[in-house]
Amino acid sequence: MSKPFLSIERLTQKFPDGQGGELTVFEDATFGIEKGEFVCILGHSGCGKSTIMNILAGLAEPTSGVVKMDGFEVSGPSLDRGVVFQNYSLLPWLSTLKNVTFGVRARFPDWSKAKVEEHAREYLAMVGLEGDVVHRKPSQLSGGMRQRVSIARAFANHPKLLLLDEPFGALDALTRGTIQDELLKIWGGTEQTVFMITHDIDEAILLADRILLMTNGPLARVAESVEITIPRPRNRTEIVDHPNYYAIRNHLVQFLGQRSKELAGQPSGGADQRPTAVSIDKTEPPEKAPEDPAAPLRAVNE
Ligand SMILES: Nc1ncnc2c1ncn2[C@@H]1O[C@H](COP(=O)(O)OP(=O)(O)O)[C@@H](O)[C@H]1O
Ligand SMILES: [Mg+2]
Repeated sequence: MSKPFLSIERLTQKFPDGQGGELTVFEDATFGIEKGEFVCILGHSGCGKSTIMNILAGLAEPTSGVVKMDGFEVSGPSLDRGVVFQNYSLLPWLSTLKNVTFGVRARFPDWSKAKVEEHAREYLAMVGLEGDVVHRKPSQLSGGMRQRVSIARAFANHPKLLLLDEPFGALDALTRGTIQDELLKIWGGTEQTVFMITHDIDEAILLADRILLMTNGPLARVAESVEITIPRPRNRTEIVDHPNYYAIRNHLVQFLGQRSKELAGQPSGGADQRPTAVSIDKTEPPEKAPEDPAAPLRAVNE
């Protein structure tokens, strides 16, 4: 089988526990992400989601293991990987427009000033920021607008991989909904691969092709990879009527409420820790009884 676009191989992270010992956040975590996929990761606070993301971004080094993107090992930050954090991290002394052109200029050094500006304006318009507002400084924008700027900035640089760490965590529900729609629209028009951390189950179902579920730490695991078997385009008001919606949602709630605890704290024993693939599909016609009694039953979760 060919390697996925992003390959996480036996990633282990240990930190000093502050009492002279060691805290193993996760061990031998192994999974892949395909090009163009939108993957969300769900897990309780402290299980190691941001640690994984910072390693994918090249902002932190794991204790052991490697991350490969397009076959090359990730080491250090790169313009190929865009990051959006919860706290926006815009440059406060630059206007909205310049916060975007700044990165675009670095990414496309051959472009004329006019082309860079046009490109930046195009991405700002995709998140609803047009007209005079692009000349405002971040301090003159609402929280939702600032987060829109960081999303436009990240996509405008055309990174191969976009990493989002609870980007909507600080926003009210209405603003959050609008920006989720904008994020889907902007992602839908690209080949970009997205890895997003969220603690919002409904947000994850709406956005993701696949949800990775992490058990609690320490010794956390990426235990499951749940396929979102709901076709796109998805719409937040209609998606709840899809026969798979509540089946998937219940599975996620059950995992986070119960199994994330039960499965926690198991050492890897040195073996690759790969998530189990889970696919829930209520739209499949019910299976006929096998004619040959010796025929093996089909596995539901392979
Ligand atoms: N630089 C660090 N030094 C020591 N411990 C850390 C460091 N970064 C994270 N941790 C610990 O690692 C665990 C996972 O943290 P984190 O990845 O931030 O979790 P999450 O994003 O899932 O909430 C936590 O127990 C946290 O306290
Ligand atoms: Mg975090």
